Amino acid sequence: MSEAQVTFRQFLLNNRRAHGTDKDLIFLLEDIATACRIISHRIRSGAFAGTLGATKDVNVQGETQKQLDVIANEVFVKHCSNCGRVAALVSEEVDEIIWLKDRPAAGDYLVYFDPLDGSSNLDVNLSVGSIFSVVALEDALERTSDEAVLQKGSRQICAGYAIYGPSTSLVITTGSGVDGFTHQQGTGEFRLTFPDMRIPETTREFAINASRYHHWDASMRRYVDECLSGENGPRAQSHNMRWTASMVADIHRILTRGGVFIYPVDRENASMGGKLRLMYEANPLGMVVEQAGGMASTGTDRILDLPPQSHHQRVAVVMGSSDEVRRINRYYQEAQ
Ligand code: AHG
Ligand code: MN
Ligand code: MN
Repeated sequence: MSEAQVTFRQFLLNNRRAHGTDKDLIFLLEDIATACRIISHRIRSGAFAGTLGATKDVNVQGETQKQLDVIANEVFVKHCSNCGRVAALVSEEVDEIIWLKDRPAAGDYLVYFDPLDGSSNLDVNLSVGSIFSVVALEDALERTSDEAVLQKGSRQICAGYAIYGPSTSLVITTGSGVDGFTHQQGTGEFRLTFPDMRIPETTREFAINASRYHHWDASMRRYVDECLSGENGPRAQSHNMRWTASMVADIHRILTRGGVFIYPVDRENASMGGKLRLMYEANPLGMVVEQAGGMASTGTDRILDLPPQSHHQRVAVVMGSSDEVRRINRYYQEAQ
């Protein structure tokens, strides 16, 4: 990697010149990048520090917390609290909303994050990530109100993720395309290595946890059955399947070479509304996917248009290459 590639800071400053990015958003994004660098380090040193493995606690999602879930959350909370414009932090790992301002002003930021995504991969040394997004409050608030964080994904002004894989990468959008940066050991900088990431419209690769087949509805089975039936089936071509159990890692692959990621509402998770979280997973990654030319849907509705009912809400997710998302939407429509 060359030092000629622009640093994250240079990129953000260029973006400010080209698109008028708010300087406080630049400070916040630099703090988020710092948080991700620290989390990357804490993950890589987990086996030495004795921080792999679970805690005794269960989070608000009803899932056992890993020690690194807790650590990553603390790092995000600490670093996202630096910027004077942040009104509230909304974390997958914290039951309540963390209000940093008593009387937020119009334009103040709400920051949403899944501090560690795919944390079941930690103990087996596979890729994990962090997901984040930012919404600017439309109006000032007289007092803090938890309802104020229930903002549609279409109001996000920025979204992104870090992936802690063979290298640590940071991928962001501020609403004008998607750009990827790689953390350079030595200089410590994130450098622009994947400018203007685009998702191909067509793909022959899908990502779904197929062990849940027996819970799926007819539309989901139809789609996957057709993919699996190969050259002699209705799709008349073979398909490939990948599932990493980290949405960040699957979406990163899709941003790199195309594909569709699916986590449907099924018979087992229907009472919760699905598995993945609207505010911490579906909305931020939905914005990234759309900005890269893909689509993000529930199978029936555009994810970014959903009016949230609660901040820990779950949702069905179908996102990636637009031809496949459209096809799955059609199968759901035809089943109605
Ligand atoms: P998290 O670690 O933040 O709880 O997220 C895990 C999510 C998502 O990243 C992944 O795609 C999915 O859960 C994996 O679900 P399965 O265990 O059903 O494969
Ligand atoms: Mn997650
Ligand atoms: Mn998580």
